[in-house]
Amino acid sequence: MVDWVLVQRPDRVVDPGCGSGRFAAEVARRSPDLDIVAIDVDPLATLTARATLRTLRARRAVVMNADYTTMALRPIPGRTAFVGNPPYVRHHELPAEQKAWAKSAAARLSLSISGLAGLQVHFFLATLMHARRADVGCFITSAEWLDVRYGAVLRDALLNGMGAISLHLLDRGRFAFRDAMTTAVITCFEVGVPPTSLRLHHVRSASSLGSLTGGRRTRRARLADSQRWSPFFLPRGLSRAREGLVPLGEIARVSRGIATGANGFFVLTEDRASELRLADYVVPVLADASDVLTASGIVRRESVRRVLLAPPRDINLEAREHAALRAYLLAGKERGVAERYLCQQRTPWWYLAVKTPPVIATYMTRQGPAFALNPDQLAILNVLHGIFPRAPMNREQLAGLVYYLNTNRKAFMGAGRTYQGGLEKFEPREMEALLVPRPERLQLLGREHGVRPA
Ligand SMILES: C[S@@+](CC[C@H](N)C(=O)[O-])C[C@H]1O[C@@H](n2cnc3c(N)ncnc32)[C@H](O)[C@@H]1O
Repeated sequence: MVDWVLVQRPDRVVDPGCGSGRFAAEVARRSPDLDIVAIDVDPLATLTARATLRTLRARRAVVMNADYTTMALRPIPGRTAFVGNPPYVRHHELPAEQKAWAKSAAARLSLSISGLAGLQVHFFLATLMHARRADVGCFITSAEWLDVRYGAVLRDALLNGMGAISLHLLDRGRFAFRDAMTTAVITCFEVGVPPTSLRLHHVRSASSLGSLTGGRRTRRARLADSQRWSPFFLPRGLSRAREGLVPLGEIARVSRGIATGANGFFVLTEDRASELRLADYVVPVLADASDVLTASGIVRRESVRRVLLAPPRDINLEAREHAALRAYLLAGKERGVAERYLCQQRTPWWYLAVKTPPVIATYMTRQGPAFALNPDQLAILNVLHGIFPRAPMNREQLAGLVYYLNTNRKAFMGAGRTYQGGLEKFEPREMEALLVPRPERLQLLGREHGVRPA
């Protein structure tokens, strides 16, 4: 990163969030006569950075104890290069003033920012505020912003005034920072020069980064049209192998399982439901993602021990034969269940519109989502997604779909959004974007292989 920055012939290098001064020190070693400004809010960090730079006899280095987002950076006539490793602080750890600053900074830059953006995104905004046209920058951050909604502000900025030049994505299986457990991307940019294309570079290890000159050109328009950038980093061979496939969403709709708003009330064991004489009002339900993981590609009624309270909406609660249900609902109401947020959104508050998907899927995963057939029409809670064919699919086609999806679990990694430690989540829309064969081909697969365990 320092090599890349120095090749841009800056007159000054700024290291925001300098910590002990690792980047600033590397610049000083290579170009001792360059102006360096290292900044950190932490006084101990600045003390250490100052000591480091002093030992290196970096005469023109200044270390500032300041908040990079709100400080004033002295303008200079020449080019400034920003380089560093902005702090990985997630939005829920940020004080309200920090979020308010980001909102007003974004507005001044004619961008709109989500309240879910973390400090790394704020550092990019701050850089855009401090920078002048033709200034350059090179930051390493977590790669989440490539795909998630809160990253939109940064994707937008990079395609416009922040002038992205190249992005270098470290293989998701490897961690650039051993103690931070996150995915990493290096972003190189030149302010005020909106790109016509960017170089996107997928590397397997830090040693293949070189001087950040690699990568495949991708047109700006393609990125501008997309909410998720990480698929653009896939090697070409993989995209070719995908020809002839269609997005799952073309043949099926993916939706979340039921959010009851009060599982303690709505979800019971079978025994408890019998004890309370509620057996006539419940349906079997899958309440745990592991039910699918251990299902060998097909979940059956016999393995389910829990049930969901699901009486019909128009049941006459006054009728004598429904006294047990009436008593249970009343007890729930007295416990305040009816006042829960989701219950308040329903009429009546206890009515759950149960849909039973023919195929179900896990969506929080380290090894790719797992899929299973659901021939016994079990209900699912929101720990699982349901897959509903848009047009009727026969048994072989459904079996073929589950076979194909489970066979390709690993290949689907990276198509969701990756959280700390490589845990990946697939929202329904992301699952609909997975590529699958068309139903005719699925039928052949189903006939040939039957179901495949996850
Ligand atoms: C990920 S560390 C990077 C340290 C250093 N660049 C390195 O690679 O070792 C981020 C640093 O940002 C600092 N920091 C956090 N919030 C800041 C802010 N608002 N302004 C300046 N520095 C900040 C932290 O104190 C921390 O030292």
